[in-house]
Amino acid sequence: MMKQKSENSFLLVKRIVRYVSLVAVLFLFYSPIGAASTNMVDKNLRCEHLSNPLGIDNESPFLSWELYATDRAKMQTAYEIIVSTDLINLKKNIGNVWSTGKVKGNTSTAIRYEGKRLNAATTYYWKVRVWDESGRISEWSELQLWSMGLLKKEDWKAKWIGLPSEDSIINQDKYTVPPSPLLRKEFRVKKKINRATLYATALGVYEISINGKKVGEQVLAPEWTDYTKRVQYQTFDVTTMLSEDGNVIGAMLADGWYAGALWSYFYRGRYGYNRRLLAQLQIDYTDGTSDIVVTDENWKILKEGSIKEASIFNGEVYDARAVPKGWQHVGFDDNCWEKVFVEPALAVQLNAQMNQPIKVIKEISPVSFYRLKRGKYDDESYIFDMGQNMTGWVQLRLPYNPGKKISIKYAEMLNEDSTLYWNNLRNAHPMDIYIPDRASKIDYEPKFTYHGFRYVEITGLSEIPNLNNLSGKVVASSSPVASSFETSDKTLNKLWSNILWTQIDNMISIPTDCPQRDERCGWMADAQVFSQTSIYNMDMQAFYKKWLRDIRDEQTTDGRLPNYAPYVTESLRYYDAPGWVDAGVIIPWKTYVNYGNENVLKNNFEMMCKFIDRVFKMNPNLLRTNEVGQNYGDWLNGNSIKAVGYPTENGSVPKDLFSTAYFAYSTNLLAKTAKVLGKATAFKHYDSLANAIKEVFVKNYINGDGIIKGNTQAGYALALEFELVPMKLKSKVIQNMVKAIEYYDYRISTGIHSTEKMMEQLSKNGYSKVAYKLLESRRFPSWFYSIDQGASTIWERWDGFVKGRGFQDPDMNSFNHPAFGSIGEWMYKYILGIKADEASPGYTHFFIEPQPGGSLTWAKGQYHAIVGNVGVHWEKSSNEAFTYHIDIPANSTATLTLPTGKVVKEGGLDIHKAAGVRAVTIEKDKTILSLGSGSYEFAY
Ligand code: BGC
Repeated sequence: MMKQKSENSFLLVKRIVRYVSLVAVLFLFYSPIGAASTNMVDKNLRCEHLSNPLGIDNESPFLSWELYATDRAKMQTAYEIIVSTDLINLKKNIGNVWSTGKVKGNTSTAIRYEGKRLNAATTYYWKVRVWDESGRISEWSELQLWSMGLLKKEDWKAKWIGLPSEDSIINQDKYTVPPSPLLRKEFRVKKKINRATLYATALGVYEISINGKKVGEQVLAPEWTDYTKRVQYQTFDVTTMLSEDGNVIGAMLADGWYAGALWSYFYRGRYGYNRRLLAQLQIDYTDGTSDIVVTDENWKILKEGSIKEASIFNGEVYDARAVPKGWQHVGFDDNCWEKVFVEPALAVQLNAQMNQPIKVIKEISPVSFYRLKRGKYDDESYIFDMGQNMTGWVQLRLPYNPGKKISIKYAEMLNEDSTLYWNNLRNAHPMDIYIPDRASKIDYEPKFTYHGFRYVEITGLSEIPNLNNLSGKVVASSSPVASSFETSDKTLNKLWSNILWTQIDNMISIPTDCPQRDERCGWMADAQVFSQTSIYNMDMQAFYKKWLRDIRDEQTTDGRLPNYAPYVTESLRYYDAPGWVDAGVIIPWKTYVNYGNENVLKNNFEMMCKFIDRVFKMNPNLLRTNEVGQNYGDWLNGNSIKAVGYPTENGSVPKDLFSTAYFAYSTNLLAKTAKVLGKATAFKHYDSLANAIKEVFVKNYINGDGIIKGNTQAGYALALEFELVPMKLKSKVIQNMVKAIEYYDYRISTGIHSTEKMMEQLSKNGYSKVAYKLLESRRFPSWFYSIDQGASTIWERWDGFVKGRGFQDPDMNSFNHPAFGSIGEWMYKYILGIKADEASPGYTHFFIEPQPGGSLTWAKGQYHAIVGNVGVHWEKSSNEAFTYHIDIPANSTATLTLPTGKVVKEGGLDIHKAAGVRAVTIEKDKTILSLGSGSYEFAY
């Protein structure tokens, strides 16, 4: 009886619990507010690929967001966006400029603003909510904003100011960098401020301050563009910087890229000599009225401030004694300062900076230092090792004043005698000089230069230093890092770190080839071969948008593209080099595939067509042999290696083959672009042109045995990667590629264009083992060889330094060059297995197909795609059992291919029954799963 009673009450409790749960669930799903809510959350909202950007000038900007959810197979089925100028109303869900209502579909990226016309100098607030696959609504996202910049010429009331023009430049002026002038203006605010916004730019580089405080975090603004075409301006919210007791706006100018020496041209004035400032401060009062403070004839200027000299290549000379005390504060007597010169006619096109600004993105500490033994009478010098080849400068902090000049010299390598290796810097002499005043402490970092370095030599200290006396300021375009990567192999992890560092070190508003010697240009080949790696590593959308515009700025009216952009001087305008100029097609395409925004194709379509039309016009027989510019070919291939025992032939792919292969590839990408944009006639034309080039390629370069002219590793890799090999010859060509690797005793002979492509073709075609062998090789030349020599970034040349032989030719021997870092692409695609799907751009669907191999027992990493985070973590146990943890972001799907025909389980269950698994196909050695979003754990 007792037992039955207790069983009955147990059942009752169970029933109550079930009832309460049901009510709770019903309450959750059918809340009285209206529709039920989903647990999907909108995060990382962006406008024009940036988070809360100020001062944009796209009048129909793009919006995007990411969705997060804990359960599986979550999809957005509709969204609603509201935009308002009025924060209070937006909080009440009222949008006075745009309210989309419920828009069906899963689009969460690249949504074009289509509301009321956007006004200059106005702030817009926005938020979004979404509906999930069951029709449940999310919460509204957090409020975001963007503000519009000054859109028309008439919106600018400011005038360009500076020192009187240097009209007649005598020869010597070209070599003497003039001191940085100081500019200032005092003003008062009349009423209570609602918002104050500063728009500013310069010819040269500038830093602006209000009441002694630097405005913004950017450095080296307005960054590098072709100043004959356009200059970027920056926008800052300075509301909290203004004071009711009077204000001073102050500025400093230096040469930068505008007036400084560039590339091997070591004299000044690449775009002009006269450094200028343009600034407009808009003050909106709470009563609805406003004021502006602008650069005009009422500003004062001091010809020579504390920065006696500053240039990108040669560093900064700073004299602390020359700072006019209090010049950035109210009440300073500027009577002896001159009136500024106002530029009467300066018709420069201005556009808003819409790429992440160059900033100090990280601070690192040195790992060691030593005293340099020199001659008896030399000043004491100490060399600090930052432990990392980096771009930027050092900040010097001394608790005492040595009373004499301190010099800070930079280099990326050391000579055998432990002195700085400067030979490879050519005409760059990276040295900052600090002349102290009477202050008891020293705290100094330069402003208007940057260096590529690992080692720092400091001379002029009067005490033995310690590691806290300096820190390294890493300076780069501040695009967010998008990934992580780790495996069981420490050297491989170091390779990944070296690749990422090399990218960071070479993003200074353009993708530079190197950060240290007198070059630092936007070479198009280096950028395009590295572009997919760069996209895995960092969020590159805004950065490439800016740089593609730089490329368009340099296109000639007849369609020729530059070998690098922006150009540096009239006499160094280089065009047409195959593999370089093709970046004008390749980068827009890769950007589109990865981020899914067709606009990058729209913006560049005309450039792409004009370019291909020109190549076609000059090469009507479809072999690209005419108008090939400097025709560099597969740059830095094996034939350029100088090392005993390494073959000196068979590395360089014939140049006509190389150029024609790129012609076919770029034309094919243009055809695809036309298709995406719905341009049927253009598609037909370029598609048939691409096929015709392919036919000519096959006829001229591939024989019936699948031998490709030249029999180089590169030739096979390029033909396969660009899909130029007829089906019936494919397996022969692949085998010939492997033989070409065997010929080199499993060493690389490919150049910057073909190395990653060869690795990719090996892995795609069943030769992953060979690819891993090349990857993990410690024999010269290889990636690991450089790491074994202490590399912390990617070297320009495989043989930049060889044990026993020493350095390569110092005229071209950078140790911080992205191109060979393109192996990163292979690491993400084949070790982690993450690959975009061209048919579903922007990771709305993607592939995960890891190919575990080599000595690796585990690998884990993440790629933060435009829709959210993709994660892969695989582990192999000693008995050949595997586990795979996979993360797929909400509102996305993936096809996972596991390299096994064994029985696979998910979370211990039959995969057919696992939530989120939509379909399973089992082949001989493969299991293919179609997955909805969520986290999974597969095992076999
Ligand atoms: C650069 C390269 C570039 C090349 C053109 C070099 O000086 O550093 O990376 O692509 O010139 O051949």
